[in-house]
Amino acid sequence: VCGIVGYVGHRPALDVVLAGLRRLEYRGYDSAGVAVLSGDGLAVERKAGRLANLEARLDEVGRDGFAGTAGMGHTRWATHGAPVDRNSHPHRDTTGRVAVVHNGIIENFAALRAELEAAGVELSSDTDSETVAHLVARAYADGDTRGDLPASVRLVCRRLDGAFTLVVTHADVPDLIVAARRSSPLVVGIGDGETFVASDVAAFIEHTREAVELGQDQLVLITRDGYEVLDFHGEPAPAKPFTVDWDLSAAEKGGHEYFMLKEIDEQPTALADTLRGHFAGGRIVLDEQRLSDQDLRDVDKVFVVACGSAYHSGLVAKYAIEHWTRLPVEVELASEFRYRDPVLDRDTLVVAVSQSGETADTLEAVRHAREQKARVLAVCNTNGAQIPRESDAVLYTHAGPEIGVASTKAFLAQIAANYLVGLALAQARGTKYPDEVAREFHELSAMPDAVRRVLGTTAQVQALGRELSDAKAVLFLGRHVGYPVALEGALKLKELAYMHAEGFAAGELKHGPIALIEPGLPVVVVMPSPKGRAVLHSKLVSNISEIQARGARTIVIAEEGDDTVRPYADELIEVPAVPTLLQPLVSTVPLQVLAAEIARSRGYDVDKPRNLAKSVTVE
Ligand code: F6R
Repeated sequence: VCGIVGYVGHRPALDVVLAGLRRLEYRGYDSAGVAVLSGDGLAVERKAGRLANLEARLDEVGRDGFAGTAGMGHTRWATHGAPVDRNSHPHRDTTGRVAVVHNGIIENFAALRAELEAAGVELSSDTDSETVAHLVARAYADGDTRGDLPASVRLVCRRLDGAFTLVVTHADVPDLIVAARRSSPLVVGIGDGETFVASDVAAFIEHTREAVELGQDQLVLITRDGYEVLDFHGEPAPAKPFTVDWDLSAAEKGGHEYFMLKEIDEQPTALADTLRGHFAGGRIVLDEQRLSDQDLRDVDKVFVVACGSAYHSGLVAKYAIEHWTRLPVEVELASEFRYRDPVLDRDTLVVAVSQSGETADTLEAVRHAREQKARVLAVCNTNGAQIPRESDAVLYTHAGPEIGVASTKAFLAQIAANYLVGLALAQARGTKYPDEVAREFHELSAMPDAVRRVLGTTAQVQALGRELSDAKAVLFLGRHVGYPVALEGALKLKELAYMHAEGFAAGELKHGPIALIEPGLPVVVVMPSPKGRAVLHSKLVSNISEIQARGARTIVIAEEGDDTVRPYADELIEVPAVPTLLQPLVSTVPLQVLAAEIARSRGYDVDKPRNLAKSVTVE
């Protein structure tokens, strides 16, 4: 959570930093701030609320004081301290010569704050981050680190507990920015006569695609001429250069009203890119495969750990992986996993699914699994993020940058990637013959086209969304793989439209939730294929008739040509016929469109739902 950017170069820093923040705003939008270094010292402005508030404030005070070519900025998702002006970043020390932006949580901040207060320092915010500005200023003013900004920052970093990315400047050294990281993201961008640091490459992709990934407990010094990476003790440290494989257009809306709508449209490409290259020489091939075939053969149990939509992708995968491999698969919310002493050993495979690769709950689950000697495979959409770095193997989803806070294309890509994991296990264990693995992969490869067809028919769903914008609540029902789809549909509606929405396993309805049904209540039903397991289909038809008899308004998502369901559907949304296990890839799409349209009709910002942030780096 929180987006940070730093710049030293030849352009006006304020423009570069504001443009960077605009691309990072998905990470948090409770407040925003900038600091620019100029010959006269540090110019700082910060404002609660969206970045637009900060820009309006800058217009009000005038931008003349912000004329330097080095600076930094921050967009905040509040943890310590309410989202008000004085808690916004950058924070300064009492002399106003040091400025700091921070992403993460400093766990020992109460002790550090007490120490500063005891020394007579007056703190002006409720944040954990402000302590860093004062500590750096004091280190810079005194002792062995006097007059040495990198050494002062290193000293302070060694004293901090918790997770942090920090960007620090001092008015004495206006051509230098120092940034540091522990368990929070930080990448360096290398331009021509200019250097960037940011939480995410999106902040500088407009200027350069050449980037460097920093490791744990590392510090980087940037100047307009380049960068130097050190550890917290000042020793040179290795850093990994990479070239970003997408460009500015991927980080822009491209004519769409919202990123989310663009990302829904990008789903066929996200799926195709995720599958590409994973079937070669008649075999499933995973990416950075630091697990051997023997390791996969030894697996006797699989856990999928993840949060939110990524967790739903795991619930979908359970059906396929158990069916293909005959291995038991448990799917668990990452936030619960490590607190309940799960049974893990070296033959357990933990699949950690995370779009951002930063989610603190999932990262802690990965650490717990590895401590217990389980093998961890990350399914991740962000190159070099912390979760893949700490895992034994990685399978990247290639959905491209997902900026809309609600997950769409990353979710579909996660399902496809989880299926590749299942097929790789089945292949290694011999529970599927090579020609069966090839057939499953072939069927998966047909899914981008199937999703494209769904996208061609969304006008009906949008019209329905407008009609439902006044609904008090919406229920979602499904069976088998349709059940996680129902959960995902409900989550999308809750987070985007702030509407009460619940997903249920259709068979569970009669055990309680059916009491919620009242005349006119919209109920979305995700039907399985009539050509798959006939029993599933007929049971769900019975469930729909039960709710229809009680006056619910039934909205049924069913396979094209499924005529048996027509009499029970007040609204029928047809999706292409695909194999049962692949149905979530088509049936989720109308639910994404529905939630987005309801939210739009209610006048909400589809990309930035209230209280949320894209990467949740706190537990
Ligand atoms: C919902 C959504 C969240 C994320 C969850 C995990 O639309 O986006 O539920 O799926 O916060 O995030 P990652 O995948 O980054 O670990």
